[in-house]
Amino acid sequence: MVMTTKKKPKVYITRKLPDAVETRMRELFDAELNIDDTPRTQPELVAAMKTADVLVPTVTDRIDAALIEQAGPQLKLIASFSNGFDHIDIDAAARRGITVTNTPNVLTEDTADMNMALILAVPRRLAEGARILTDKPGEWAGWSPTWMLGHRIWGKRVGIVGMGRIGTAVARRAKAFGLSIHYHNRHRVNPVTEDELEATYWDSLDQMLARVDIVSVNCPSTPATFHLLSARRLALMQPTSYIVNTARGGVIDEVALIKCLREGRIAGAGLDVFENEPAVDPKLVKLANEGKVVLLPHMSSATIEGRIDMGDKVIINIRTFIDGHRPPNRVLPSRV
Ligand code: DGY
Repeated sequence: MVMTTKKKPKVYITRKLPDAVETRMRELFDAELNIDDTPRTQPELVAAMKTADVLVPTVTDRIDAALIEQAGPQLKLIASFSNGFDHIDIDAAARRGITVTNTPNVLTEDTADMNMALILAVPRRLAEGARILTDKPGEWAGWSPTWMLGHRIWGKRVGIVGMGRIGTAVARRAKAFGLSIHYHNRHRVNPVTEDELEATYWDSLDQMLARVDIVSVNCPSTPATFHLLSARRLALMQPTSYIVNTARGGVIDEVALIKCLREGRIAGAGLDVFENEPAVDPKLVKLANEGKVVLLPHMSSATIEGRIDMGDKVIINIRTFIDGHRPPNRVLPSRV
């Protein structure tokens, strides 16, 4: 849909973005910013969708069918400032003729770095060790041969659930740390990548889970991946194994995971994402205090470089759309 008006398009941005991105948006658009970064309420979003030409939400906004149905006829583009798009009802947007875009590729390496940090942090007790020096300053009695022992990373097996861009970037890092690479994916990756990573493909997720030392969750959140790591599947993991999640909380059945961790049926977990964000189950916090899990507040993609790249992608998507072209990062509805 081509916007014929010469006026700058009205673009409503739901959260504070890096200054450089906001400055450029102000130059190009009639941009309504959120300077104090207070998350927008659903009624505020409804009001915005009745007047804006373009909505720029983030993963903290729930753009569901009920909201989309209340959008005014002028709203033609939802240019999400996010890689994931599980917070937007893509099919409902398509029914209303609203195009949706996201910001893929630019978060891959940052997310993979933090994913690798979690793979290291849990078995090597990184967060626990760091707390010893800061929580009780001056009480450290010094090195001892049997104190703060964790488990070796080198030589272990990592099982990557979802070998897309981020999963592959995690695999490259894991290989450099001496882990052997196993993966489960809807489709086998190309032979060149498989050879480079010396990766073993598992058609059966169940069989892979039972045989690896570290499970790395890197698949997108879709109806098909909701609770993919169910109670039954978590029970297949070895009691000495660890699980790391930088994808979306809903891919793991969190209640079942907590039970496994408390009962010692899984050795530990590194979690950057949670089922009910921003709420974090107090039982997970307790497990973190006991050193069984490392918890991060959804920050695996949080670099200033990444956020500026995301902003650039949002701007390019808006500009190409307004100029009457197909924006580069369209998210297609399921029926297409
Ligand atoms: C995204 O953009 O989907 C990420 O989860 C943000 O970290």
